[in-house]
Amino acid sequence: MKKITLILFSIFIITSMNAQDIKKLPEPIKKGGMPLMEALNLRKTDRDFSSKELDPQTLSNLLWAANGINRPDGRRTAPTARNMQQIEIYLYMQDGVYLYLAKEHALQLVVKGDHRKEAAKQPFAQVAPVTLVLVADYAKMNMDDKELRDLYAGTDCGNVCQNIYLFCASENLCTVELGMIDRESIEKLLKINGKVLLGQPVGYHK
Ligand SMILES: Cc1cc2nc3c(=O)[nH]c(=O)nc-3n(C[C@H](O)[C@H](O)[C@H](O)COP(=O)(O)O)c2cc1C
Repeated sequence: MKKITLILFSIFIITSMNAQDIKKLPEPIKKGGMPLMEALNLRKTDRDFSSKELDPQTLSNLLWAANGINRPDGRRTAPTARNMQQIEIYLYMQDGVYLYLAKEHALQLVVKGDHRKEAAKQPFAQVAPVTLVLVADYAKMNMDDKELRDLYAGTDCGNVCQNIYLFCASENLCTVELGMIDRESIEKLLKINGKVLLGQPVGYHK
């Protein structure tokens, strides 16, 4: 009896810990926004970030636009070679680093604390409330040809980046794709089995 109580107590502790570490995002609003041709006309790189937090609905819409699920079979807003769906989005925010869970449309806490300065090297990017770090998960890329694997990692990451750019154009948000990120520090902090590709801070304009 004592043993069963102990097991049940441990299960309770583990599930409540996990529940605390996962934040459900508001349902994304999939209608409206700017007409595509106008968003393409306004798509650009900006670097005048305000440090103001993004409101939760905007963050939810941004992540869905970037790489959310848009069909019943689980496929995404961004295409991937062989439908590998290997691009993961980590969010470097003031209170921690989170992983975007597309299926749950939620954020999973990976590491607590403000690590934004460890990700983006350039000062203008460090003030943004969130830097999205795009990573190719090698566990989802079962490929012997390593050159082709890394080519697909790069091209598929670019698809997500352009979705982010277009969403930002439509919502008048500030964003810049960043090659200048500290890959070593990101790999170490997040214990990545894959390729850390690019960063993309997003915020309001100053
Ligand atoms: C792969 C890639 C890496 C980039 N890396 C950086 C970067 O590290 N820092 C930066 O300020 N801009 C970076 N940029 C932004 C480019 O400088 C910018 O896209 C380019 O000047 C064209 O401007 P536009 O995006 O407004 O058309 C990068 C863009 C791409 C596509």
